Amino acid sequence: MAHILHVDPLHPERTPDPIREAAALIQSGALVAFPTETVYGLGANAYDAVAVGRIFAAKKRPTSDPVIVHVSTPEQVDQVAASVSPVARQLMKAFWPGALTLILPRGERIPPNVSAGLPSVGVRMPAHPVALALIQAAGVPIAAPSANLFSHTSPTSAHHVWRDLGDSIPLILDGGAAPIGVESTILDLTGERPQLLRPGGVPLEAIQRIIPAVKIEVVERYAAADQEALPAPGMLLRHYAPRASLHLYEGPDRAVRSSLAAALDRLRRETPQARIGLLLADEDLPALGHHTHDPQVVILALGSLHDLSEAARRLYAALHDLDEQQVDLILARSFPAVGIGAALRDRLTRAAEGKVVQVQESSSHHE
Ligand code: TXA
Ligand code: MG
Repeated sequence: MAHILHVDPLHPERTPDPIREAAALIQSGALVAFPTETVYGLGANAYDAVAVGRIFAAKKRPTSDPVIVHVSTPEQVDQVAASVSPVARQLMKAFWPGALTLILPRGERIPPNVSAGLPSVGVRMPAHPVALALIQAAGVPIAAPSANLFSHTSPTSAHHVWRDLGDSIPLILDGGAAPIGVESTILDLTGERPQLLRPGGVPLEAIQRIIPAVKIEVVERYAAADQEALPAPGMLLRHYAPRASLHLYEGPDRAVRSSLAAALDRLRRETPQARIGLLLADEDLPALGHHTHDPQVVILALGSLHDLSEAARRLYAALHDLDEQQVDLILARSFPAVGIGAALRDRLTRAAEGKVVQVQESSSHHE
């Protein structure tokens, strides 16, 4: 059973004992879950192939899915990557510490299983003081995927980690809610031009502003989970998924609201025993609020459409919440794909596993 130890999220030096204990576990080859600014990570000594193997076992993660290496200083990158290009340096300077993972040529000290055998390695310097303190105290870079069972919703709290991995790891550092709430942006710098592999905490627009002369290719990878030849490891469609099936509604706000309302009315009529979760924005509530007192309906709003950072911060907690409330089906609205909204929309699309309903302004009346 995992111990959960509280750490001061802003001043980890005020809670030195848990950090020391976590660092000692990492050095001994064990796993530790810890907070980062994006989501909680499941960490192991990145130089220790056996320890890294334990990550895959604990998560039930296929060994074909590479993990990200976390460093605490820019200099540490030179021990993790075989080479660091000028563009990589520029982006590190602009966004580290922060929610940007760079794919670089893998250095010799990093065992192949970290990268699922690929010649590259994903590296990021997290901004969370606890993550930085842990890497520093351990004295080694820390390999860490999100601290959830494979294909489950990523954890943004120690409680989320506990639910998935409490039985299989020795320690969870509890630093409160993850402040960004979605995973890092992943940029592959090993090819001819940079490829955005995953939208995340650092908006593509911000990256493009730092390297305006370099064209970034956006890779859309919504491969079906059962597809045999996946375009790249770790890009399964069924990722970040709650237990309930999720239907994602996309289109103009008014049409989305009336489609959601019509779908909900129909579901309540035709399957009265089913528990339905609604994932909305604050602005949607007036159109759907008449279901507020229905015990079979759980309504969660992620905040205003004008504050996509807030919605990103709350997304995974909302999906975990709907899981805990045992809803059978989730109806969700999509969010504008600008800035961090691109990450929100990406995660919702993955959670929907292809069940995306495109609504038009006029069609909403025929639902
Ligand atoms: O914000 C984050 O990135 C969090 C925190 C803990 O840092 N970590 C995270 O890790 O989201 P994970 O394992 O859930 O997602 C990492 C993904 C992999 O699934 C894979 O798609 C990609 O990063 N990745 C890692 N190394 C790669 C490589 N060498 N080449 C291509 N993709 C890679
Ligand atoms: Mg993950």
